Amino acid sequence: MFARPPTLYRPFLSGRYLVSAGLYRLGTQPIPWREDGQSEGHIFALDRDYPRFVASKVAAHRRALHEYAGEAGLTPELREAALACIARTLAAESDGMMTWDGRTFRNLALGWAADLDPRRGTVEALGRFAAPLADLVAVVTPVNALDFLGLNAPEDLALIARDPRTGRDWLAAAHVLSPGHWDPRDKLGRDFVAVHTPVAGSGPMNATAPRLVEAMMTRGPFVRFAWGVAMGDRLDHHPAAPPDADRAASTRFDPDGAFLRVERQALTGFPDAHGALFTIRPYTYPLREAVANPDHARALAAALRSMTPEQITYKGLSGLLPELLAWLEGRVDRAGQGQARGHALDFRA
Ligand code: HEM
Repeated sequence: MFARPPTLYRPFLSGRYLVSAGLYRLGTQPIPWREDGQSEGHIFALDRDYPRFVASKVAAHRRALHEYAGEAGLTPELREAALACIARTLAAESDGMMTWDGRTFRNLALGWAADLDPRRGTVEALGRFAAPLADLVAVVTPVNALDFLGLNAPEDLALIARDPRTGRDWLAAAHVLSPGHWDPRDKLGRDFVAVHTPVAGSGPMNATAPRLVEAMMTRGPFVRFAWGVAMGDRLDHHPAAPPDADRAASTRFDPDGAFLRVERQALTGFPDAHGALFTIRPYTYPLREAVANPDHARALAAALRSMTPEQITYKGLSGLLPELLAWLEGRVDRAGQGQARGHALDFRA
């Protein structure tokens, strides 16, 4: 079941931190920082980390689903187009572990099957059966079809709508159970610019919002990446979740507790339903794995140095940056000495 290791992405290899669209056409444009440099066509990434996502989502669900998920002015047309797309694509990309026949979605790993009505967004019936990960979902009851499908996917799900008459766009639904220090309730019903206003340096990107919304609805599917350094690998960083070490005032940089958090985001448009699906899949790599050779260390240091003071604060790095940079510089220097002695330049070697 989902034996492949999570793909390793290093978006910092450009050596710059950019707040920009960075859209790659799914399936055709190669991702430069994928370890094998290939293009990729999937929306959902089903790999060895699957149980971890389900466990984290179930914990968030049990703690306070309403803090993570909701709807605002979602039309039946967009609901139907998006739910059918999620169910169909998830099943198609699951290597047979999930199936969808237009009515019943079955997950052989989680041991449950639900009859869904995509237009009304309802779970009409839920059955459970013995399966390897059935224990993970035994304690949770999905409240609607988006919730059910979201619990089956590692990805978080968001639906963006646009009024065909006024051109106004808004976040019409969210099922975001692994947010990176933002609260979905602050974003529901808001437009692209309002959603992104807290992002330091988002002014130029926000100035192109109508074009970006048009692209995500009519020209995709696309994939894009966001990244940061976190002091922990917890998936759920909802501001109202119990605090952990990441972004705590007392937390110091420690290379053994540091992780590169990368979010892979895929955008699929439904022009006839005036909306788009936005999926978010976080990856957390131990920093020692993400920085596997001196080129990685050099590029990450350069990318961190390219951040403005506001961006350093926004990314939660103010208290960590000097020691993080010193550690990266040590990796570059150490490699320089190793090279002089003819040693391999891979820290893992
Ligand atoms: C073309 C589509 C999009 C682009 C180019 C884009 C771009 C970005 C960028 C550059 C950031 C900053 C990442 C960082 O921390 O370094 C960001 C953050 C964010 N984006 Fe998007 N985004 C897009 C679509 C969306 C959509 C559809 C949503 C709806 C949920 C969304 C929600 C967010 C949120 C919640 C944040 C964090 C904001 C905060 O900290 O309050 N984005 N986005």
